[in-house]
Amino acid sequence: MSNIDHLKQQAAARALEFVGNGMRLGLGSGSTSEAFINLLGARVRGGLDVVGVPTSERTAQLARSLGIVLGDLNDLAPLDLCIDGADESDYNLDLIKGGGGALLREKIVAASAKRMIVMIHGPKLVEKMGAFPLPIEVIEFGHVETARRIQAVAAELGYGTPAVKLRHKGDAVYKTDSNNVIYDVAFGPVIAETEKLATALSCVPGVVDHGLYIGIAKTLIVARPEGIEVRER
Ligand code: A5P
Repeated sequence: MSNIDHLKQQAAARALEFVGNGMRLGLGSGSTSEAFINLLGARVRGGLDVVGVPTSERTAQLARSLGIVLGDLNDLAPLDLCIDGADESDYNLDLIKGGGGALLREKIVAASAKRMIVMIHGPKLVEKMGAFPLPIEVIEFGHVETARRIQAVAAELGYGTPAVKLRHKGDAVYKTDSNNVIYDVAFGPVIAETEKLATALSCVPGVVDHGLYIGIAKTLIVARPEGIEVRER
């Protein structure tokens, strides 16, 4: 196991301490979430009774394979916890997510939970986000024009004309679980006003959602070689 994988594992183990019997859980996506779901599966096999709402088809598949009972968000909300990874977090616990392409369902599930717990390893905690290109989920219809509008919004807000990169998987255009496409947009190195950018992007026709999570996370678990830090909003 690489050093980073080891840190992800430790963050996941710490997150598991927040889980109690009878809880309704949002299950995140990405490698750190998968580490968590594997640990959760072992607890379920040992008798823990929880029900999960997956944030991606991939997470659903993994959880099912481990015997974790899954349910529908419409029936289970509000969830007790949503446990997920992130690509960046600032000190306010605002996040960039979507590196794995699941940002839309992840945000819906996280917003439906009483508490979102985020697991990261040290370098992902930053004073100002933006080094990680912001994933933006866009309806396929007219997506090139939507990307131009995103650039226009960026220019208006003082970010110049950022590179907009249509995400691919191999040679094919990447499609999300909701059959949309993703643009990875380089607003950085620093996003000066995350909330302002989030609001402006949400108003662009064709944008389904973006990877800025403002005011959603309540607890941040940061794994570093010297130990685990838990930060609360
Ligand atoms: C999935 O769409 C993402 O939001 C992930 O939560 C994020 O990319 C973190 O992924 P890792 O845990 O694989 O670093």
